[in-house]
Amino acid sequence: MGKLAITGGKPLRKKPFTQWPIATKTEAAALKEVLESTLWGGQPFPGKQAAAFAAKFAALHTAKYGQCVSTGTIAIQAALKAIGIKPGDEVIVPAYTWEGTVGPVLLLNAVPVFVDVDPDTYCLDASLIEKAITPKTKAILPVHLGMRFADMDEILRLASEHNLKVIEDCAHAHGGMWRGKGAGSMGDLGAFSFQTSKLITSGEGGAVITNNLEYMELVQSYINAGRASVSDKFKKRIIGFNYRLGEFQAAVLGAQLKRLPKEGAIRQKNMKHLEKRLQKTPGIGLLKPDPRITRLAPYGYVMKYFSAQLKDIPRAAFVAAMQLEGVHCDGLFYEPVYKSSLFPVDPTDFPALSWNRERPFDLRTAYSCPESEKAAYHEAVWFPHQHFLGPEKDVDDIVDAIHKVLENIEDLRNLDHKAIRNQRLGRADRES
Ligand SMILES: Cc1ncc(COP(=O)(O)O)c(C=O)c1O
Repeated sequence: MGKLAITGGKPLRKKPFTQWPIATKTEAAALKEVLESTLWGGQPFPGKQAAAFAAKFAALHTAKYGQCVSTGTIAIQAALKAIGIKPGDEVIVPAYTWEGTVGPVLLLNAVPVFVDVDPDTYCLDASLIEKAITPKTKAILPVHLGMRFADMDEILRLASEHNLKVIEDCAHAHGGMWRGKGAGSMGDLGAFSFQTSKLITSGEGGAVITNNLEYMELVQSYINAGRASVSDKFKKRIIGFNYRLGEFQAAVLGAQLKRLPKEGAIRQKNMKHLEKRLQKTPGIGLLKPDPRITRLAPYGYVMKYFSAQLKDIPRAAFVAAMQLEGVHCDGLFYEPVYKSSLFPVDPTDFPALSWNRERPFDLRTAYSCPESEKAAYHEAVWFPHQHFLGPEKDVDDIVDAIHKVLENIEDLRNLDHKAIRNQRLGRADRES
C-alpha cells in the first residue's frame, strides 16, 4: 500500500467541493413567476424573461444588443448567419477547442480552417492567422478558452486589414473583460453558452451579443423561424428555424446573472492564491498572465504538467491520481478538433469540402497543430471553476494534493488503474 489514494493510501480530500450548478430561492422564485404567468415561451417573442436577461447580459459585456438562443452552438451558427457566411466560405478557427465551435461552420456548408493555439494562453495564435487567410476567408472565430482571451488587439487589426468579420466564441468567458471591454463586444458578434458546466447556466441555453443592430435583427429572424425581428429596421428576410430559449430557462439565467459578479470575484481571489502557492512547483507550469484581461472569467483553471520534468510519468497517471485524492481535474478535456472522435467528418454531408477539388478536402488529415496536440495529449490540466467557489482551504487542498502526487510520482510508474485507463480515452469514449 502506497501513500497515494490510487495505490491504496488515504485520499487527501474527503469533503466534496462546491457543487455546480447552484440553485437558490432566487431561481425557485423566478421559476414560480414564469409558471404562474403561463407565458412559458414561444410567442410573444422575445418573452419577458428572455428579453430582460438578454438586455442585462449584453450591458454587462458592454454590448448594445443581446438575444437568448437555445444553445451555445446555435449562438455561433446564428452569428455566422448574421455576418452572411455562405457555402464555400472559409472561417478561421482554433484547433484546440470544443467541437461546438467548429460544427456550426460545417452546418452552413462553409469550411473551417484550423490554426494552432498560443502555448502561453491555449487560445488562437494570432501570429499564425495571416498565413491561413485565402481569398475565400470571410471570418475569424477566436475562442476565449479556459481562463484567457485570444489576442483581440491583433485579431481585430488583422480583420480590419483583410476585411474579415470576427465572431468571438465566449462560451468560457461570461463576465470577462479585455481592456475594459466585455467578452463578445469587440468582434462583430459574441456567442455564449449556458450549458450546465458554464459560469452561468440554465442547463442548456445560449446568447448572442453585438453592437450592430442589423446583425441583431438577422439573429432574431434566424432563431425565430424567419419572422421579422423586434425592431425590423433593416427589413431583411431570411429562412429561419426555431432556436428560441424558453422562459423557464431565461428566468433561471436572470437569477444566476445576479450572482455572477460575486462568484467571479471569489474565483479570481482563489485562483490568485493557487498561483501564489504553485508558482515554484517543479514540473508544473502556469499560463502567462495578460494585463489586458481586466476582468478574469475562468471557466476552468488551466495549468501545465511537464512529464519530462516528472520522470516521464504521463499526465493521465497524474490526473487519475489527483482524482483519487478527491480533486476533480481532467487532462484530455479537449482534443484538436481535427483529431477528435467527435469529428467524424463525412465529406458527402458537406459538399463545399469537394468544390473545385479532385478529391474532397480531408479536414482530419490536412492539419498538424503541434501546440494544440501538446496541450491536448500531454500538458494541459483543467480544474472545474466550482472548485474555486469555496473557502481558501479548498484551494490549499488542491495544492496539497498536487504536491502529494508529485512527491510520490514514482509510485505511478507503470501503474494500471481504471482511472488512468479512463483518462487515456477521449471524452466521447469515456465511461463518465
Ligand atoms: C468553447 C465552446 N464553444 C461552444 C460551445 C457550445 O455550447 P453548447 O454546448 O451550449 O452548444 C461550448 C460548450 O459546450 C464550448 O465550450
